[in-house]
Amino acid sequence: MAGSSDSRILVTGALGQIGTELVEALRRNNGNNSVIATDLRKIDGHPVINSGPFHIADVLDKAALEELVINNSINEIYHLAAILSATGEKNPELCERVNIGGLANVLEIAKKHNIRVFSPSSIAVFGPDCPSIAPQVTPLNPTTMYGRTKVAGEEMANYYHQIHGVDIRGIRYPGLISWKAPPGGGTTDYAVEIFHQAIEKKEYTCFVRPDTMLPMMYMDDAIRATLELMNVPSKCLGPARSGYNISGISFTAEELSNSISERIPDFVCNFVPDIRQQYADSWPNSIDDSDARKEWNWSPKYDLDQLVDEMLSNLY
Ligand SMILES: NC(=O)c1ccc[n+]([C@@H]2O[C@H](COP(=O)([O-])OP(=O)(O)OC[C@H]3O[C@@H](n4cnc5c(N)ncnc54)[C@H](O)[C@@H]3O)[C@@H](O)[C@H]2O)c1
Repeated sequence: MAGSSDSRILVTGALGQIGTELVEALRRNNGNNSVIATDLRKIDGHPVINSGPFHIADVLDKAALEELVINNSINEIYHLAAILSATGEKNPELCERVNIGGLANVLEIAKKHNIRVFSPSSIAVFGPDCPSIAPQVTPLNPTTMYGRTKVAGEEMANYYHQIHGVDIRGIRYPGLISWKAPPGGGTTDYAVEIFHQAIEKKEYTCFVRPDTMLPMMYMDDAIRATLELMNVPSKCLGPARSGYNISGISFTAEELSNSISERIPDFVCNFVPDIRQQYADSWPNSIDDSDARKEWNWSPKYDLDQLVDEMLSNLY
């Protein structure tokens, strides 16, 4: 049904880093008025608010969310509202409440009103016992509250799919790099901040060590993955359906900084690790995405050079 003229879509957390670009893509494919954007906050002049319907909605307010679903004949929800890793470790109680409580509300509404759901997971589901190339199926023992909420989210999604037949799908996004909206308090934010600071100040203090290697992805690839996954017939999807591994590019913080220096020769990057180094160290270096490649033909397009070129040309 995704991408068809029948889609009536609601997006939660729509003003965030992913929502800003996903709403744009969904509105392009389905028409502006078929995509109802919602968020806890309002940002005047935000492109999501200017380009179509927008409502303030707290995902913890189930009744209000259900009213929006009924009033707008919604049949698809992209549930992006969440508290990310670094912010979540500062306020784990809020992280647990929003990430688990918000998803529980969405799943109950989806069950009652026969709604398809996209619910993102994260590479934060993996813990220190995960191999450095993370397999699709491996023990999930994250150290952060954020990671725990994402493991719980995948399990809740599987339950609603298996027991109640809800068509729910998810991706374990790597760190996402984009220029249209700022990142929302995750551990991989350095890979976005570095571009802004390189252009504005020719200097950046990176909060992880130079040898820190994490799975990353350019936002265009992530949006395409999301739309492609939602467009595949349900019967093609296997047991990974609520949290597919997808791989983009893995690079160290130093490789990223060097790649920027090749294009901005007087750029200087200093490395002063903070608490986020611990979260980064608990995650794998790269991702085995063979299930996504096999089941819905996933393939990334952007390598490091293309990503750096895109970021710099759009931010200058
Ligand atoms: N950006 C990444 O690199 C990344 C990586 C892996 C997974 N993810 C996942 O993708 C999803 C979206 O991430 P993002 O990067 O766009 O996050 P973000 O922090 O940029 O945006 C999240 C949005 O949710 C909203 N929100 C927070 N609490 C809310 C509530 N109670 N009710 C309604 N809205 C609320 C915020 O106002 C914000 O606009 C999340 O589930 C996140 O865990 C993101």
